[in-house]
Amino acid sequence: MPDSLRIANGTVVSSTASVRADVLVEGGRIARLLPRGEPTPGVGRIVDATDRLVLPGGIDVHTHLDLPVGDFSSSDDFETGTIAAACGGTTCIIDYATQDRGERLGTALDRWQRKAEGRAVIDYGFHMVVVDLTDDVEREMDAIVAAGVPSFKVFMAYPGRLQIDDGAIVRVLRRTARNGGLTCLHAENGAVIEMLVQEALAAGRVEPRIHALTRPPALEAEATTRGIALAAFADAPLYVVHVSAAGAAHAIADARARGQQVFGETCPQYLALTAEAYEEPGFDGAKYVMSPPLRSRADQEVLWGALGRGEIQTVATDHCPFNMAGQKDRGRHDFSRIPNGAPGIETRLALLYDLGVRSGRLTINRFVDLTSAQPAKLFGLYPRKGAIEAGADADLVVWNPSRAQTLSASTLHMRVDYNPYEGRTVVGAPEMVIAGGEVIVEDGRFAGRPGAGRFLPRERRG
Ligand code: URP
Ligand code: ZN
Ligand code: ZN
Repeated sequence: MPDSLRIANGTVVSSTASVRADVLVEGGRIARLLPRGEPTPGVGRIVDATDRLVLPGGIDVHTHLDLPVGDFSSSDDFETGTIAAACGGTTCIIDYATQDRGERLGTALDRWQRKAEGRAVIDYGFHMVVVDLTDDVEREMDAIVAAGVPSFKVFMAYPGRLQIDDGAIVRVLRRTARNGGLTCLHAENGAVIEMLVQEALAAGRVEPRIHALTRPPALEAEATTRGIALAAFADAPLYVVHVSAAGAAHAIADARARGQQVFGETCPQYLALTAEAYEEPGFDGAKYVMSPPLRSRADQEVLWGALGRGEIQTVATDHCPFNMAGQKDRGRHDFSRIPNGAPGIETRLALLYDLGVRSGRLTINRFVDLTSAQPAKLFGLYPRKGAIEAGADADLVVWNPSRAQTLSASTLHMRVDYNPYEGRTVVGAPEMVIAGGEVIVEDGRFAGRPGAGRFLPRERRG
């Protein structure tokens, strides 16, 4: 592997500008941008990026690799999941390390470090999910921040498993704010959803499509509004994950307009798919059982508007894959037993480019902002990640804006037996992916190495 590389003749895209320039990489970092034609004698390799865009590597700040759910785990581990991420143009992830009940946070973090170490092919960080907040755990949050994990997640849904009450949420918000961190929130009203689930099951309504009916958009909007109010009360910044409903997007936009530090994330599945998918025959609707569920076209339009105006700051994946055979099918006779989540770590950039940039809904600069720069800024990685500038990590994607690809589980790299976008053709694809100065994907083929990814201790927010 050469330790210097020049990407020549491309258009370098940042969150604010697109410039015709070459990029010189040395020792794993970006050495500088240089004009075309300026000689670089002795450079190890020259990559021709004519008619290509040169993007900062994608950053996916919402993944669940090797996540235990009952007696099995999400089907991608840190090796298969990060290979898939890399093949899709993502060079850095932040995964959710999840506390078990009664467990110290440090024990959970160590467990996640062991899952990733030696396996990840791209750099990674962790958020810490707090599911059991004792006084000791609250104090321990300070040490977790000091260990490079300054973001915590709390759930307003999944009672009895992940949900914590509003008092505990305020404690996490306060402590995290004091530590210069960011609280991530899963905003759905767990108690009312549980009531609707029990009513549905009692009425014999067990098929996958009932999942969506028991998690209506109003209950996402309510929880988002409540979460925003709790964050205001705690004087804490808030990051709302996987926003899917118009009402939730409006609540975030309104809070931001009032000057509150509230940030929103949505995911490609909420932009590319609608609740009609639950009507697929037989048990196929289970492919789309995730929380929040898929919504309507009207919700999608509101999300696109919010992305375009910067009211939602990031597009992440919530990659949480489960095989239909042996995992999702546990819920064949009871939708509430279908493990929640879907694959997406590999298809994020291609879907957002095709649906967003090519359709004219997003500029290419907004695309970079949503998929790389803002995630890096919000989660303490910028400008080491998320920027193409001297000194930044050489995490780069050579993007072919006119290459078509047909998405299929049979050709994608995610370790899961279906794809939610099976057969869909999208235009725009990564042709080469570089991480830490090394070419890890070339012509769609993975060329990296398990264990090459490093744990990224992240900075507190300024
Ligand atoms: O359905 C989902 N989203 N599963 C992953 C866990 C979560 O809620 O983020
Ligand atoms: Zn969630
Ligand atoms: Zn998630």
